[in-house]
Amino acid sequence: METTLESKVGINKNTVRNGLISNLENIQAKYGYLPQKELFDLSKATNQSLTDIYGAATFYKAFNLKPTGKHRISSCLGTACHVRNAPSILEEFENKLNIKVGNTTKDREFSLESVNCLGACALGPIAVIDGHYFSKVTKNKVSTILDEARKGFNHIEVTTDQRIFPVELSCSRCNHSLMDMEHLIDEYPGIHVTVSYKDNHGWFLMSALYGSYNVSSQFELPPDAVVQIFCPHCHSSLIGASECPECGIKMVPMIIRGGGIAQICPRKGCKGHILDINGTFVY
Ligand code: FES
Repeated sequence: METTLESKVGINKNTVRNGLISNLENIQAKYGYLPQKELFDLSKATNQSLTDIYGAATFYKAFNLKPTGKHRISSCLGTACHVRNAPSILEEFENKLNIKVGNTTKDREFSLESVNCLGACALGPIAVIDGHYFSKVTKNKVSTILDEARKGFNHIEVTTDQRIFPVELSCSRCNHSLMDMEHLIDEYPGIHVTVSYKDNHGWFLMSALYGSYNVSSQFELPPDAVVQIFCPHCHSSLIGASECPECGIKMVPMIIRGGGIAQICPRKGCKGHILDINGTFVY
């Protein structure tokens, strides 16, 4: 009896010619990597040459031809990170995991790879684990980061979580810095804007630690309140065009010093913020 790819990895043969990448994604989602036998089956079922299939599988870094660990670590060795000691960070990951870069631990918990640039050079050295960015990584932080990965990334504890990092923002209209050196939140200068809600108008300070939602405001805001945000320097409304991925209202864009855009949801309590550091998105 013929085993169909549809039943094995959810592949639609009718779209296979144009869908090599999505077929490879489906196989990898099922097995965690691309087993050789599955690629042979794919070739047979779709009449695509193995050369084409292997060409795509090896071209894109997202695909793995070997089994990978539950947690995937990418340690940046790009120039900006390199000059900030990145090779010693990678070495520390190797030592703590007892593997060499490019390999997976025996218990299949971690895979370690090096990458050339993760697009967040100003915050380097950077390491990414399971899509979570860690900035300004030091050798001392490596153990803590691995512990956090083992525990899972569902909980953020501001005082100990290594993922969150300070961002410096400026107005997307006049480019004036929004950092308030005199008023700290989470021990960092706050991001100072003006907000309006109904008849109230006043200052509003947000934590500059990305991942912390601590704020301070001149007046009390009810839960779910959607505020208008203004630059305290040029007084422009900072409403943008993108919609919040969580609640769908228009986001507020601000410029990240060093390159990139932070999009902040203006609804109180909504965590639909997005950081786009030169094309690399952090949610
Ligand atoms: S060089 Fe490491 S993030 Fe760019």
